[in-house]
Amino acid sequence: MRKLLLLAAGVLFVLGGTAYAFHDEGVARCAACHTMHNSQNNTLVDPNSPNGNPWLLKDATPSDVCLSCHAVTHGNEFTGTPLTPPPQTAAGSFIFLTATNLNEGRSGSYPGYTAGHSIVAPGYALAADGTVLNAPGGGANAFPSSDLGCSSCHDPHGNTNFRMLYGVGAIQDGLFTFTNPAPIAEGVSYNDTVGNTIHTAYHSGMSGWCGNCHGDFHNNNTKLVHPSGQALGGTIAGIYNRYNGTGDQTGGVQATSFLELVPFEDPAMTTTSTTGPTASSQVMCLTCHRAHASSAADAGRWDFTISVWSEEGVRSGTYAIPNPYPNPLADQRSLCNKCHNKDVNDLLLP
Ligand code: HEC
Ligand code: HEC
Ligand code: HEC
Ligand code: HEC
Ligand code: HEC
Ligand code: HEC
Repeated sequence: MRKLLLLAAGVLFVLGGTAYAFHDEGVARCAACHTMHNSQNNTLVDPNSPNGNPWLLKDATPSDVCLSCHAVTHGNEFTGTPLTPPPQTAAGSFIFLTATNLNEGRSGSYPGYTAGHSIVAPGYALAADGTVLNAPGGGANAFPSSDLGCSSCHDPHGNTNFRMLYGVGAIQDGLFTFTNPAPIAEGVSYNDTVGNTIHTAYHSGMSGWCGNCHGDFHNNNTKLVHPSGQALGGTIAGIYNRYNGTGDQTGGVQATSFLELVPFEDPAMTTTSTTGPTASSQVMCLTCHRAHASSAADAGRWDFTISVWSEEGVRSGTYAIPNPYPNPLADQRSLCNKCHNKDVNDLLLP
């Protein structure tokens, strides 16, 4: 009978055409993540933890539990290698944390842990960042790296926010408190490979949300830091829209100028829009960073350590982020130029 039911469920799953909902914006079945006695059929549910796990989880840490479903499916968050990663979803893959070196520059080393958020998941050999002990920007009481995991950002018990991100209130069983609300955004399917025509539509609030842990990194009124959560203004929006790469710096038009590698916040954005910014669109943390990790140091959406795109992936041997503006006439410069156009002198080269 049980087999029959499972079969029926399987058929429904196939006929339904969409992935089965698990969290469904609410709390999923407890037993998918918790075990009451660490025992089923008189066998240990987690054989590696004979004395059980904190919060009665089925695996050693929250992140190990999440990765049991999300590593190779549902976002492919930890599969492949740093050279051959899975197709990249919006947040980027944690696999880059396992790289040896991400530096494409001439000297020095950016070890894998600089690829992004070093989540603690011993079952996947992922340990806390041993160099950066607290969230940079947040001061002495900033979020501790030793407790960073999937459930530091996503509510394991579900909610209706974008990607079930936490809003204002206590997180992680009271370990820390968020003071800024969840960002407003619209996501594509968690499995979709993102690009210029299918991508997250960021509406508002991302910089403040990241600031829950990163303090006033976004606040250039109190610190000399790059603005985040601030309007672009007409001049910069105009540059963004005209900029079509180092080889074509003024040939772009607003209707097609959107670049998934350099997104901005705008309430009018949709997940399939290719339209560039207006003066009131905002630069924000995810203009330059991925939320999980990337094959560039500091979770860059593009590599901050290269001068020209032909250097990408060469020295480090990690996955080369594809050049969005391939052009035989000009080696693409940093994507900071999408808004600032400081590569203007490259056009004068023979
Ligand atoms: C038993 C398998 C399973 C486990 C364990 C699991 N997930 Fe999921 N997760 C899914 C499935 C299936 C989906 C897609 C459908 C849905 O949203 O329910 C999903 C979707 C998601 C999404 C995307 C939701 C959206 O807005 O589209 C996030 C974020 C997520 N999971 C986070 C987590 C976190 C964090 C954990 C650990 C606390 C976790 N998941 C544990 C199966 C799982
Ligand atoms: C997707 C995985 C997942 C599911 C499903 C889930 N939990 Fe949890 N739960 C966690 C994680 C992870 C923690 C550890 C605290 C944290 O990281 O936020 C936790 C902690 C708890 C705690 C202790 C801390 C707290 O937040 O109160 C209780 C109680 C709890 N869960 C009850 C439940 C119940 C009851 C259900 C089913 C209705 C459930 N959980 C379903 C992942 C899950
Ligand atoms: C729950 C707290 C928390 C939130 C929310 C958070 N971070 Fe972090 N972040 C950390 C901690 C802790 C570190 C230091 C440890 C590490 O590097 O993994 C860190 C490190 C980083 C790094 C440096 C990575 C490296 O290794 O060089 C970047 C970049 C970053 N965060 C960007 C962001 C962005 C962008 C957001 C919002 C989308 C965000 N963070 C949200 C806690 C957080
Ligand atoms: C520092 C905060 C942070 C941590 C830690 C984190 N996430 Fe996310 N996650 C986000 C944000 C923000 C997004 C939305 C990114 C976007 O659309 O640009 C996201 C998106 C997702 C998605 C949607 C698909 C995608 O990749 O865009 C899934 C699934 C997901 N996270 C699961 C996880 C799992 C599983 C873990 C732990 C292994 C985890 N997250 C750890 C912040 C975090
Ligand atoms: C204009 C692009 C840009 C924006 C916007 C941006 N960053 Fe960064 N971020 C960088 C670059 C480039 C680095 C490399 C180090 C540096 O230049 O200071 C970096 C480094 C970091 C680091 C690592 C710092 C360390 O001490 O290792 C963190 C954390 C970080 N950013 C978080 C954020 C957060 C949070 C936001 C939004 C509030 C944000 N960034 C907005 C480009 C940006
Ligand atoms: C999405 C557009 C955008 C991108 C991409 C971007 N910036 Fe900016 N940048 C801005 C805006 C908006 C300002 C504020 C301009 C103003 O107030 O006049 C700014 C200001 C600056 C300033 C001047 C700060 C000051 O206080 O005078 C510097 C320097 C700068 N950006 C460097 C960078 C670098 C380096 C990168 C790449 C890592 C980058 N920007 C990427 C939009 C962007």
